[in-house]
Amino acid sequence: MTQEELFKKLIAHCKEYGFVFQSSEIYDGLSAVYDYGQNGVELKNNIRRYWWEAMTRLNENIVGIDAAIFMHPQTWVASGHVGAFNDPLIDNKDSKKRYRADVLIEDWIAKIDDKINKEVEKAAKRFGDTFDEAMYRQTNPRVMEYQSKIDEVNKRMVAALEASDLAEVKKIIEDCEIVCPISGSKNWTDVRQFNLMFDTKLGSVTDEANTIYLRPETAQGIFVNYLNVQKTGRMKIPFGIAQVGKAFRNEIVARQFIFRMREFEQMEMQFFVRPGEEMKWYEFWKETRMRWHKAMGLGDNKYRFHKHEKLAHYANAASDIEFQFPFGFKEVEGIHSRTDFDLSNHQKYSGKKLQYFDPETNESYVPFVVETSIGLDRTFLLVLSSAYNEEKITKEDGTVDERVVLKIPAALAPVKLAIFPLVKKDGLPEKARKIMDELKFDFACQYEEKDTIGKRYRRHDAIGTPFCITIDHQTLEDETVTIRYRDTMEQERVPASKLRGIMIEKVSISNLLKKI
Ligand code: GAP
Repeated sequence: MTQEELFKKLIAHCKEYGFVFQSSEIYDGLSAVYDYGQNGVELKNNIRRYWWEAMTRLNENIVGIDAAIFMHPQTWVASGHVGAFNDPLIDNKDSKKRYRADVLIEDWIAKIDDKINKEVEKAAKRFGDTFDEAMYRQTNPRVMEYQSKIDEVNKRMVAALEASDLAEVKKIIEDCEIVCPISGSKNWTDVRQFNLMFDTKLGSVTDEANTIYLRPETAQGIFVNYLNVQKTGRMKIPFGIAQVGKAFRNEIVARQFIFRMREFEQMEMQFFVRPGEEMKWYEFWKETRMRWHKAMGLGDNKYRFHKHEKLAHYANAASDIEFQFPFGFKEVEGIHSRTDFDLSNHQKYSGKKLQYFDPETNESYVPFVVETSIGLDRTFLLVLSSAYNEEKITKEDGTVDERVVLKIPAALAPVKLAIFPLVKKDGLPEKARKIMDELKFDFACQYEEKDTIGKRYRRHDAIGTPFCITIDHQTLEDETVTIRYRDTMEQERVPASKLRGIMIEKVSISNLLKKI
């Protein structure tokens, strides 16, 4: 199965099993807006909780807030979003399709990079154990030529974007002979800037003065509250403020399911530090956040850092954590050193002092900020895309069965325990209900008595339930039950009285937190 086929199947699976639905589907949907179903919302809540507790419980100097989505419009002037939160867009006149000009160029660079990787792979096969990859990359004429093309185009693109030189961006597209993926033609319009913020009106008066924006990032709610939290929480620098909430962007190219949406959720943490110490904390948070990801156990080799060449208007250093999605390595989280850009600008535009008095140095200053910013929906997609497995199972009688199983980390799974009476009679349903009534206070449990046990297992494999508990006639005699493990399909008989202890051990989010 190709990665593209896998991704299509995953999208269909998300709908079939109540994880994600297209928004307003009965009206043919709304582009790049999605709803989470009964299993999706549980998974999303668990990921959110894993992040929240990693931030606010594991760090005594990080607290949370929940700021409003609507903010005073001056917020977005001060933050630079009104002036600079733009994407350069370009249309193909033949296909009438609209693209982000920088993405077209980045895709072109990725294609050349693929060519290099293919050359390296071929050479590695040819030379075997004696192959020195670094040396080969530095000396092979074809690889060197490809690399110098990439470097040159990258340099031109960064310079053009930083200078907002849109004519040069178009020239790069022409010089690289980039064609529209739909029409195959090079018939491009000029490149234009497009502001990504949604606006609306406050109250009933519709004049310009009442225009407000749906926040494009949650971070600004933290910045404008930083002194409120610092003073009321008696926080000392360095300290952090965490927040989870919706953000809105009128994305030009919204694609790849929930990867790029127009309404999405961010989990952001702003860490306030002494000026001059930001690089130390930037490195600290890069490493800490990578450990958070890897603690989920989805495969260390599926992650990598990507250092930004073109920095956002507020940053002096930035890296992404990228994950290997079915459509390639893509950003899931950004770690940004935002300097004092935001706080200084809010100070300027509001006319209110936003300085911190540092009792250790006896100085007042505007703190510098290192932020970690991760998309909740992207993390959801990351978990599901690595959890989705199609397996063939050889049964005892030699026949082959198939199953789709979501190997979601147990601590994040929507349903932790499925409880099955073996049959719908002989007092087994009553016994199963009794066991469930004891466990439901601690775990998300589901009771099922319909269909064969095999069918019930398959249904729960498909939504990622890590443990199925079967209550049979032996349970009535000796108070033991069978646990069936999702990933290995092995079964184990244990005393019912021990279930709670065994399960706490296996499904608690603290298991993940301890690995960070
Ligand atoms: N406050 C910094 C900030 O917003 P960003 O890199 O623009 O930085 C941070 O966004 C994260 O938010 C991204 O790494 C991504 O996971 C998520 N994100 C951004 N735009 C998104 C979109 N349109 N749909 C889904 N997630 C998005």
